[in-house]
Amino acid sequence: MTSLDIITGIELGTTKICVMVAHADERDGLRIIGAGQCVSHGIRKGEVHDPTAAIRDLGVALQKAESMAGVDITRAYLGITGKHVKGITDRGSHPIRSRDHGVTPKDVEIVIKNARSFELEENASRLHCIQQNFKVDDFDNIKNPIGHRGHTLTVEMHNIQGAYTRIENSIHIVRQNNVDVHEVAFTGLASALACLGKYEKEHGALVIDIGAGATEYLLYTGGRVRHSGVIAVGGDHVTNDLNIGLFNGRSLRGAEDLKIHHGSALVFPECETKRVLLSSGIEQMTRDFSLVSIHRIMHLRLSEIFQIIRSELEKKKLHHHCQAGVVLSGGTAKTPHINQLASRIFNAQASRASARAIHSLPETLDQPEFMTCLGLLKFGSFQKRTEKRPVSTLTLPNFNFSLPGLFKKEAANN
Ligand SMILES: Nc1ncnc2c1ncn2[C@@H]1O[C@H](COP(=O)(O)OP(=O)(O)O)[C@@H](O)[C@H]1O
Ligand SMILES: [Mg+2]
Repeated sequence: MTSLDIITGIELGTTKICVMVAHADERDGLRIIGAGQCVSHGIRKGEVHDPTAAIRDLGVALQKAESMAGVDITRAYLGITGKHVKGITDRGSHPIRSRDHGVTPKDVEIVIKNARSFELEENASRLHCIQQNFKVDDFDNIKNPIGHRGHTLTVEMHNIQGAYTRIENSIHIVRQNNVDVHEVAFTGLASALACLGKYEKEHGALVIDIGAGATEYLLYTGGRVRHSGVIAVGGDHVTNDLNIGLFNGRSLRGAEDLKIHHGSALVFPECETKRVLLSSGIEQMTRDFSLVSIHRIMHLRLSEIFQIIRSELEKKKLHHHCQAGVVLSGGTAKTPHINQLASRIFNAQASRASARAIHSLPETLDQPEFMTCLGLLKFGSFQKRTEKRPVSTLTLPNFNFSLPGLFKKEAANN
């Protein structure tokens, strides 16, 4: 086994810092050889809030992963999230000038270049630039336009961008642990890569990763990433609502306890009279709570998260593109009946995420909260197959600098 075969993924989550190490075998299969995690103290809503704590926590997770894998981790793929991350689709056009009005390879090259020259927001860096299908005049959804006849060739690019300084903050945490950042990836894309197969990507699947402080979503359809985004609301907001509604804001721990042990995303009439007991170790007291009140509070917040995503998709006229279903990842996906809730709101079948194409993955790791880290390994393995140049030039002191995204398109469209 050489260091070239080793791939490491790092997620700096709001709840946990997670490191996974995999061995990529000859047939591009991935086998996990090490994993380490640590409770996260320095991350809020997916972004670095306390660098010292984050550096320390990552150090702990790295050490655990290294000792389990029996390797020194020197490079890693790093997940990026936070409300600064945005998915924006832009298009490029080019007139078809050949005598017979047939599209030539040169036209394709130029139109892609035009679409990629999309101006990023100020101080933003491009995380991914994902090419969509082509359009010749009003004939759309063309995978290969060469030979098609018409007047104008158009192609759209889905750009996932993030604030340069925020991305740098995350990279800094990794580098301070003497690990180089091989490449950064949007965590929503990573989660989708972990749990979607070819069929879902082709027929349309929406992956929603509801972590503690942020929710990422990403829609695949026609084999390509069509839309993505982040909302700065997650499972912690559910806990917070329970704390305010049931404890007058005095017990986050009690609220989290109720959520984990008695939670539900749906409200059932048969729970109307049921009460649950909660004992507080500190106050040495036992209190009882109306089960239906817990469920109502959770239902409202989780519905709101899904409704926000649905209305984002509606704005882009993409809400009917989840024929292969909605897949839920992130720790909050463990909430009982959350699949049914998502199913109602998106009018599609919904399921809990489970990893695809990773050999001998223990059940303890095939959990929704690990999809991002598992997906980073997949992203890394795609990159290794297609990579031709070193990246992580993000440290260049140029705020409007964009990462080269061609090979990233490969990963996202694989
Ligand atoms: N069984 C469960 N039911 C409901 N929520 C859960 C459950 N287990 C974990 N969570 C919630 O999942 C969130 C953590 O998810 P995770 O994906 O690990 O977050 P992050 O990646 O942001 O660290 C927390 O808000 C936690 O309360
Ligand atoms: Mg996460």
